[in-house]
Amino acid sequence: MPVITNIEDLRVLAEKRVPRMFYDYADSGSWTEGTYRANESDFHKIKLRQRVAVNMENRSTATKMVGIDTKMPVCIAPVGLTGMQHADGEMHAAMAAKKFGIPFTLSTMSICSIEDIAAHTQAPFWFQLYMMRDREAMARMIERCKAANVSAMVLTLDLQVIGQRHKDLKNGLTAPPRPTIANILNLMTKPRWCLGMAGTKRRTFGNLVGHVKAVTDMHSLASWTNEQFDPTLDWDDIAWVKKQWGGKLILKGIMDVEDAKLAVASGADAIVVSNHGGRQLDGAPSSIEALPAIVAAVGSQIEVWMDGGIRSGQDVLKAWALGAKGTMIGRAMVYGLGAMGEAGVTKALQIIHKELDVTMAFCGHTNIQNVDKNILLPGTFPTA
Ligand code: GLV
Repeated sequence: MPVITNIEDLRVLAEKRVPRMFYDYADSGSWTEGTYRANESDFHKIKLRQRVAVNMENRSTATKMVGIDTKMPVCIAPVGLTGMQHADGEMHAAMAAKKFGIPFTLSTMSICSIEDIAAHTQAPFWFQLYMMRDREAMARMIERCKAANVSAMVLTLDLQVIGQRHKDLKNGLTAPPRPTIANILNLMTKPRWCLGMAGTKRRTFGNLVGHVKAVTDMHSLASWTNEQFDPTLDWDDIAWVKKQWGGKLILKGIMDVEDAKLAVASGADAIVVSNHGGRQLDGAPSSIEALPAIVAAVGSQIEVWMDGGIRSGQDVLKAWALGAKGTMIGRAMVYGLGAMGEAGVTKALQIIHKELDVTMAFCGHTNIQNVDKNILLPGTFPTA
C-alpha cells in the first residue's frame, strides 16, 4: 500500500482502482479541456507571503457557510455518478464529511438516493438540483429533500445543455457499464471495485429511476440531460424553485458580474463562482480568475464561494484570501473515494485541512477569519 501524502497520490490510486469510464468521467473537461486545466494551473501562479516570528499556536480554520458550521471553508461538491467511483460512494462520502465536520452535497445525478443518504448518515446534508422539464417531478424532488432534512439547496445553473467531454463518448459512459468486451476486459482489472458493486443494489441513478418519466436510455447521463434537463431555465424558474423550497438557496455556476447581480436580486443566500470544473464552457476563464471581480461587485451583499481546481489546502487559502467565503471540492473527494472508499475521502479532507492550517501559519495567521489578500504577493494574483 503506497504512503498517501497528497491529493495526487489519491488520484493515482483511484486511476488504478476505478473502471476507466468512471475515472475518465471525473478526470476530464469539455472540448480542449483548456478551462479544466486553467482551474488548477491558475492557482499555482498565485504566490504567498511568508511571515515569521509570529505566535502560531492555537490555530482555527473554522467558519460558517450559509450559517452552517464547518471545520474549514470547504464542502463536498455535488458530483454525478459518485456511486460509480466506489460502491455506495455517496453514502461513504457523506459519512466522511459528517465525521470530519464539513457539509456534503448530494448530486441530482447521484447513484445513492436522497433517502439513502438520509437513512445512512443521519445528518443534515445539502442537495444539488438540476432544473428538469417535468415541473411536477421537480416539485416532488424538492418535497423529498424536505422530508430528508436537507438543510440547503444548491441549484446548478450552468448545465441546461451538456458540454461535450470526448472521453465519455468514446468510453460509452453508462451506469452501470454495459457488458461490452472492452468494458468486461477493463472490469477484470478492477477486482475491488467489482466486489464492492456485487455487494450493493445501487448501480444506477437512484434519485431519478422510478421518480422521473422514462428516458430513451435510463442509464446514460447524456440521455438524462438531453431529454430531461430544461434548456428554457431562466430567473423566473429560479424564483419558482426558491418558493417551492423555502429554505437556504445556493446558486452554482456564476461566472459573470452581471449574473452575480441578478443572483443577489433573486434573494439567494450564496453563489458559487464555478465553470463546472471546466466541464461545460471550455474557453471560460478559470474560477479563481473570475472570483475577484464577482467578490468586488457583490461580496458585501451575498456569500460568494468558488469551486474548480482545488487540489490542496493552499488552494483553499488562496480562494479565501481572494474573498471566497467557502469552496467546494469535487475531484479531490472523488479521488479519495475511488482510491479507498470512506477512508480515502477522510484522507483527502485531512490532507486539505492540514495544508490549509500549516500554510495559514506560514503566512503569519492563527485564525482564518483574519486572513485576507494581504497574504498574497502583489502582482501574482487576479484582481477585479
Ligand atoms: C454533471 O454534473 C457533469 O458535469 O457531468
